[in-house]
Amino acid sequence: MDLDTRFPAVSDLRARARKRVPHFVFEYLDSSTGREAQSARNRARLQEIQFWPSILEGKFDCDTSTSFLGRDYPVPFGCAPVGMSGIMWPRAEKILSAACAKAGIPYGMSTVATVLPETLAPTIGDQGWFQMYMPSKPEFRADMLTRAKENGFHTLIVTVDTPFESSRERQRRANLTIPPKVNLAMLISMMMHPAWTIGTLQEGIPSLKLCEDYANRLKAQSKDYHSLGHAGHVIRGQPGWDDIQGLRDLWDGPMLVKGVQKGEDAKRLVGMGIDAIWVSNHSGRQFDGGPASISCLPAIRAAVPDTPLVFDSGVMGGLDILRALALGADFVMLGRAFHYAVGALGEKGPPHLIKMLRDDMVSNMGQMGARTLGDLSARLIPETMP
Ligand SMILES: Cc1cc2nc3c(=O)[nH]c(=O)nc-3n(C[C@H](O)[C@H](O)[C@H](O)COP(=O)(O)O)c2cc1C
Repeated sequence: MDLDTRFPAVSDLRARARKRVPHFVFEYLDSSTGREAQSARNRARLQEIQFWPSILEGKFDCDTSTSFLGRDYPVPFGCAPVGMSGIMWPRAEKILSAACAKAGIPYGMSTVATVLPETLAPTIGDQGWFQMYMPSKPEFRADMLTRAKENGFHTLIVTVDTPFESSRERQRRANLTIPPKVNLAMLISMMMHPAWTIGTLQEGIPSLKLCEDYANRLKAQSKDYHSLGHAGHVIRGQPGWDDIQGLRDLWDGPMLVKGVQKGEDAKRLVGMGIDAIWVSNHSGRQFDGGPASISCLPAIRAAVPDTPLVFDSGVMGGLDILRALALGADFVMLGRAFHYAVGALGEKGPPHLIKMLRDDMVSNMGQMGARTLGDLSARLIPETMP
């Protein structure tokens, strides 16, 4: 199968993934919260940003490489942490992390992945970023960080944009609860997707492995454990500013805070010793009333001019990556796109996506005469900026 012809865009991978996985799985990945207005704003605002094309530049090459937090990368993007990633396709976390390691780009492992850090250690290479939802118990925080470090995850991401559960109406309509409870509609959908179902059963029913591990320790300590509900409650930390300082003191590697949307918050975090700010609104999965993620980027860039910035939420192609970089991001992460890729094509998906994004970057840099990523800002049409 010629992937470049059959799946030239992320939308093609999404369409194929939708056919290959049960309805509740696709809805989990694809949905946002509320009326999904923020999600739509993320896309609309990105698409409004335009560059001047350039003519008669002669022969030239485009260089997509960059360095970020002391490491060199062939392209300025990677795979964002996605919880329950393993329900998207059997072995999704292993497939994605191995593809990222091979391509030399970062892979973010979620606290609520369906594997343990130990499972990815053999293949993650030098590309492991560990994402933490802060556990309520301080002793678990320290233990989690030690496990992440010992298993090769050198960069810590602390996600702070989930202070409360969000409504996720579409996900609920599809009957998906956490932990999952299988009903008749889900069973029928699973039977209609035998490749997904057989692979998933072979791999073992997906669950929040790391949280379960800590929940089991709590169970061993207390007879009242059942009042905590399920393993996911282990990470309902609802962190405050002091907690971030506590983690900063515990973690001696690069530390990013993810889910920042205001310049003043970015400034305060940088003052606390945070190495990089991750501008994100969780792709509209938390708060339908907030601004587009790309609209937050210029003010954060201005507030912390010398701090490395990561951007995500709504990126669906190489041109979107260029837009975020032109507005001040140093690195871009994609969550859904990588998971559409693995859902659509299994192991062949992530390498195809990485190539597609890079090709799209090069093609668009060529149109505007940008030789390096540093040339992008000067090509922006100012009145189209958010
Ligand atoms: C299904 C799903 C699960 C997610 N789970 C997590 C998570 O466990 N931790 C986290 O920090 N972000 C999580 N995110 C947010 C992603 O890290 C990232 O911010 C977002 O997907 C980027 O937007 P995009 O999907 O439009 O590329 C999740 C996103 C999706 C779509």
